[in-house]
Amino acid sequence: MDRFKDKVALITGAGAGIGRAAAQRIAAEGGAVFCVDLNEEAASETASLIVDAGGQATAHVCDVSDESSVNACIEACVACYGSLYALVNMAGMLRFDDTQMLESADWQKVIDVNLTGTLYLCRAALPHLITSGGSIVNAASTAALSGLPCGVAYSASKGGVLAMTRSIAVEYAKRGVRANCICPGDIQTDMARGIDFPASMDWELMPRIQSISGPKPPETVAGLIAMLASEDGVHITGEDVRVDGGTLS
Ligand SMILES: NC(=O)c1ccc[n+]([C@@H]2O[C@H](COP(=O)([O-])OP(=O)(O)OC[C@H]3O[C@@H](n4cnc5c(N)ncnc54)[C@H](O)[C@@H]3O)[C@@H](O)[C@H]2O)c1
Repeated sequence: MDRFKDKVALITGAGAGIGRAAAQRIAAEGGAVFCVDLNEEAASETASLIVDAGGQATAHVCDVSDESSVNACIEACVACYGSLYALVNMAGMLRFDDTQMLESADWQKVIDVNLTGTLYLCRAALPHLITSGGSIVNAASTAALSGLPCGVAYSASKGGVLAMTRSIAVEYAKRGVRANCICPGDIQTDMARGIDFPASMDWELMPRIQSISGPKPPETVAGLIAMLASEDGVHITGEDVRVDGGTLS
């Protein structure tokens, strides 16, 4: 497939997990990929993997929660490749806290990275996406769709991403820009492996968080991201798609 031939994709969180898999997938489909991550080594490794496989990629360091860093990132992408067609916001963080013990700074950090960071990228990218007739794919979560005990900050951030994505989709539909989000669940990544639950966690209250068919690698999400970002998704906007192996079914 050549769905991204002569097209440019900027992917945040491209240093690991779903973001890396999406970067590799879009590059394999002919796209030039701007691989953005907080972790310089990880972003460079993704870019190297793509280039070694014959694709086109550039690594860029950016903290998505830093407004000026994000604005410079979008400018750097357009300076590098001349345009922007797909914005894929996968950078994110997860933490679990007993709600009564949740520190305001910890709440704010999750909101800053997951929600405000996604806004910063969308806002700075929109003028370029209007020019290219491109689209946005944001990372929400099954946590945006069902209650997650001890996950208030993460759930709120992902619920916000979902609502924000729908609003952008409606606001920009007439200007030719689409916006969708994905709701992954039980994907084997560093984030999923590194979960640290508080001692007060009551497992009886936990909804199903494991997929019926077992955990899956990030490549199982990459195809969906590529489809939504490509011409194949031309009539899909404001949508949230679960890719969770039936976790919430
Ligand atoms: N893995 C899952 O099962 C799952 C489920 C639901 C939602 N998600 C969402 O999908 C997205 C990708 O998750 P993943 O599992 O691949 O995570 P991951 O932890 O494997 O990768 C996240 C990447 O984001 C980068 N990052 C973190 N903070 C950043 C910042 N401030 N600026 C720039 N980069 C930053 C990290 O360095 C890392 O490379 C996240 O938004 C996550 O919330 C994942």
